[in-house]
Amino acid sequence: MSHNSFGHLFRVITFGESHGPAIGCVVDGCPPGIMLTEADIQADLERRRPGQSKFVTQRQEADAVKILSGVFQDERMPAQLTTGTPIGLLIENTDQRSKDYSDIRDAYRPGHADYTYDAKYGVRDYRGGGRQSARETAMRVAAGAIARKVLDQIYGKVVIRAALVQMGTQKIDRARWDWDETARNPFFCPDAKSVDSWTEYLEGIRKAGSSVGAIVEVTAEGVPAGLGAPVYAKLDNDLASALMSINAVKGVEIGDGFATAAMTGADNADEMRAGNDGKPLFLSNHAGGILGGISTGQPIVARFVVKPTSSILTARRTIDKAGAEVEIITKGRHDPCVGIRAVPVGEAMMALVLADHALRHRAQVG
Ligand SMILES: Cc1cc2nc3c(=O)[nH]c(=O)nc-3n(C[C@H](O)[C@H](O)[C@H](O)COP(=O)(O)O)c2cc1C
Repeated sequence: MSHNSFGHLFRVITFGESHGPAIGCVVDGCPPGIMLTEADIQADLERRRPGQSKFVTQRQEADAVKILSGVFQDERMPAQLTTGTPIGLLIENTDQRSKDYSDIRDAYRPGHADYTYDAKYGVRDYRGGGRQSARETAMRVAAGAIARKVLDQIYGKVVIRAALVQMGTQKIDRARWDWDETARNPFFCPDAKSVDSWTEYLEGIRKAGSSVGAIVEVTAEGVPAGLGAPVYAKLDNDLASALMSINAVKGVEIGDGFATAAMTGADNADEMRAGNDGKPLFLSNHAGGILGGISTGQPIVARFVVKPTSSILTARRTIDKAGAEVEIITKGRHDPCVGIRAVPVGEAMMALVLADHALRHRAQVG
């Protein structure tokens, strides 16, 4: 039974728990000849790393990645290259505080996966949530950094970016969207004018020992037409599955998604004209760059909603392993809005799905 791997030709298996000695992954199927160093991967990990602002968990992890295999360089080669063999990546866990979790050893946090893991396996590593913990998503980001390089090698430049478009009740003004702004504030918010009010809002939530949800928008530009396949390998189907697999994600939409329910067919259809480069020119992108499960060549656009952190300082009623009714307050270090650190994870899942589909497309169609 293998339920910890993902992808077909670009395949990733992750392992590790929040408070074990390390987390890691194996990337199997990466083509040879791609320049790859630890620094390439580290840059993406830095954006997801905990402890960087008061609005994310204060756990201090360097998240320093080691490449264990799958790359080679000798004195005749100008750069370290992938060899086509499995790439092993490892990140040591260095800031565990298992004692923070003694309270949840036997009691189930409402909204978390303590009960379901116990019901299914009967053995549960409760330290930091064990395998339920989003610590695992660091390996997705690491593998995603390699996936980006695969895409760039095949297609030139594929730009994959994500932003937080809603935090709790606070929405951005899309007219003020500036991608550069996402690197300047602790929320990956693309609207500079929202940052002050978001800061005040989340500070209030944090001080109250509560948490809020969020919506992340992720886009990929530079993807040609043709990725994806009928009928169980639709690009939107794989993308939705990949984004939904991120911890705490409760909904995914592609393009205009749920808003299309209120649109007419005339409004929703992306009209086409002949472009100067011989390719079609779409006059809109309600479809989010995917039709019939196959990419159109337009930007691919997806959004996902991340629920509020369930580990909170507000007392909640629950039961323990023995079935006794108890109250629980979750101590430990938790993000007041896990949607923030889900932003680079969403980018990574988009990159992983696209790299896998790019290799599958090449294998079938050439
Ligand atoms: C980046 C990220 C960080 C997270 N950090 C926490 C956390 O500090 N505390 C917590 O209770 N849940 C956290 N979560 C959410 C839990 O991992 C998740 O809710 C839990 O595994 C149950 O799974 P489900 O919500 O998908 O059903 C985080 C999620 C993400 C994406």
